[in-house]
Amino acid sequence: NEIKLFCPATIANVSCGFDVLGLCLESTGDEMLIRKVSTPGVRITKIIGQQLPMETEKNVAGVAALAMLKDLDIDFGFEIEINKKIKPGSGIGSSAASAAGAVYGINQILGAPFNQTQLVEFAIQGEALASGTAHADNVAPALLGGFTLVKGYEPLEVLKLNTPSELYATVIHPQIEVKTADARSVLKQSIPLKKAIVQWGNLAGLVSALYSEDYDLLSRCLHDEIIEPMRSPLIPGFYKVKQAVKEAGALGSGISGSGPSIFALSKGKDIAQEVAKVMGNIYKDFGVDYDLHISSIN
Ligand code: HSE
Repeated sequence: NEIKLFCPATIANVSCGFDVLGLCLESTGDEMLIRKVSTPGVRITKIIGQQLPMETEKNVAGVAALAMLKDLDIDFGFEIEINKKIKPGSGIGSSAASAAGAVYGINQILGAPFNQTQLVEFAIQGEALASGTAHADNVAPALLGGFTLVKGYEPLEVLKLNTPSELYATVIHPQIEVKTADARSVLKQSIPLKKAIVQWGNLAGLVSALYSEDYDLLSRCLHDEIIEPMRSPLIPGFYKVKQAVKEAGALGSGISGSGPSIFALSKGKDIAQEVAKVMGNIYKDFGVDYDLHISSIN
C-alpha cells in the first residue's frame, strides 16, 4: 500500500527531434513516495528540496494523479511525498519526472489497470500545467526508459527505441532562468522546406543509428537546423560549449529540452566525464554557477 519510486530526469528533443524524441537519464532524478490512504482524493503531503505548490490542483504530480483517477470509482485516496532533486526550469524534465512518477506509482498500487500509453496521456496533463502545452517528449522516456519517440499526438502513440549500450549523457545546468513557455514563444510557426529536409534526414538517421549502434552515424545526425538557432540566444556561452565538447570527444551536443541546460552525448563514461570538465570550465570563466550531471541512458 506504499511505493517508493525513482523518477528519472530526461532530455527532450535530443537535437533533431523537437517535441517527439527523448531519452531517460538512468542516474539523475527525484524520489517519490506514494501511500494509499482511506481518505479519498490526492494530497501532496511533503516536498523537500524545492519550493513548489503543495495544492493538488497546482502541483504537476497532483494534476496528473487527478487526471488518472477522474473516471475511476474508488473509495480511497493517495498521499504523495516528493524529494525533488531535479531543479524546476532546468530543462531536464523536472515536471515530467513528478507527473510520470505519480501516475506510474498509483497505477502500480491499483494493480496496473492502465497501459503505458494511457499513463503518458495522464502525465502530460500534469506537464501542461507546468509548460502550457501538453508535449510528451519528457514524460515518455521517464515512463518507458531509454530513448523514446512520440510517433504521433492524435492519437497518442509512443514508441520505445533501442539505446546503444555505451552511450552516456553529460548535462550542464547553468543557473540562468529560461521558462519553457518563453522558449516556445520565440519559435517561428513555419519553417523553410530546405531546413525541414535536413532535419527529418537527421532524425531518421539518428533512429537508424540507435538500432545499428553506429556511433559515427549518430554523431553526424545530432544536429538541429530549426529550433536551436532560435533558442540559442537565450543561453549565454552555448556555442562555446558546443565547440569545446566536440573537441573533448563528444558525439554531439544541443539544448536539453527548452534549456537552459545543455546536453552532450558521448561514447563511454570517460569521455562523458571529460566533457563535463570542459563544460564546467566555460561557465566558471563566465562566473555563472552550474550543476553537472553524468548519466548512462536507460
Ligand atoms: N519539446 C519541448 C520543448 C520540451 O522543447 O519546448 C520542453 O520541456
